[in-house]
Amino acid sequence: MAWLHVMEIMDFEGKTAVVTGGARGIGRGIALELAQRGSNVLIADTDEEAARDVVAEIKAGGTQSSFCETDVTQQWSTDDMVEVALEEFGQLDVLVNNAGVGGAIGFTKRKTPTVEDWQATFDVNVFGIVNATQSVESYMVERGYGKIVNIASIAGRGGRPGFATYAASKAAAVNVSQAWAFKLAPHGINVNTVCPGLIWTPLWEKIAEWRRSTDQQNAGLTPRQVFQRTVAEMVPLGREQTTEDVGKAVAFLASDRARSITGQALNVDGGIRQN
Ligand SMILES: NC(=O)c1ccc[n+]([C@@H]2O[C@H](COP(=O)([O-])OP(=O)(O)OC[C@H]3O[C@@H](n4cnc5c(N)ncnc54)[C@H](O)[C@@H]3O)[C@@H](O)[C@H]2O)c1
Repeated sequence: MAWLHVMEIMDFEGKTAVVTGGARGIGRGIALELAQRGSNVLIADTDEEAARDVVAEIKAGGTQSSFCETDVTQQWSTDDMVEVALEEFGQLDVLVNNAGVGGAIGFTKRKTPTVEDWQATFDVNVFGIVNATQSVESYMVERGYGKIVNIASIAGRGGRPGFATYAASKAAAVNVSQAWAFKLAPHGINVNTVCPGLIWTPLWEKIAEWRRSTDQQNAGLTPRQVFQRTVAEMVPLGREQTTEDVGKAVAFLASDRARSITGQALNVDGGIRQN
């Protein structure tokens, strides 16, 4: 049975994936998971320094990787990203739209987000997905093959106080994925969404700092302790989710094993939400 196991693990051998926001956090976890399963990976991010470390890590593991400086809020930039992937690797099989921002999660002391806050959040979390998908669409349609996985959030499954811009943008991300799934299904392209729960990344560190400064009960805690407290309160399985957990879910949805799954949103959240 061992060879069967190896075949399943190496289901991206010879394939190429682009991971936006792959320089750190969840994007890094997704990129490493796909690479471990044989994929070449282009890291598309604004943060060159962090991205170079991930590229080196992937190459050390034996597959190819490179960096493309990409701002997903700009259509010309995601067009460039796709061109670079094709130039460097000759094909593009998987697009993971992971780049995201926390929005005005009360990071500022304003109670009501401004129009600029809304715009900045939607620019990355929604238009980032739209731009990158539009950039890759004609190539994947012509080829009759492609896997697109978008990273939303459980916040997109229902609003929470203080998270209006973020939650709304992630709900839009789930919805826009379903629209693309319908549009691209006749061309053999699967589009799915993963909704992560609570993962300790630089994004969550900022949320923890905000929760500490606004909630008396968190006053004496470190940001990491605030996070752990939130996990204990919210997660039925009783543990935080990891970047690897999200990477494995993305790898499944991006593989041919999930060929009959499209237009779905999968929560990777230890049971916080059941829909
Ligand atoms: N951390 C969590 O608990 C959590 C939970 C649910 C959903 N998510 C989502 O997962 C994704 C990754 O989150 P994370 O926690 O790893 O965040 P993070 O802030 O640690 O990493 C985000 C990455 O995206 C990149 N990025 C930001 N704006 C960009 C842009 N305009 N163009 C290209 N790259 C850009 C950043 O440079 C960074 O490398 C986001 O979409 C986030 O909303 C995170």
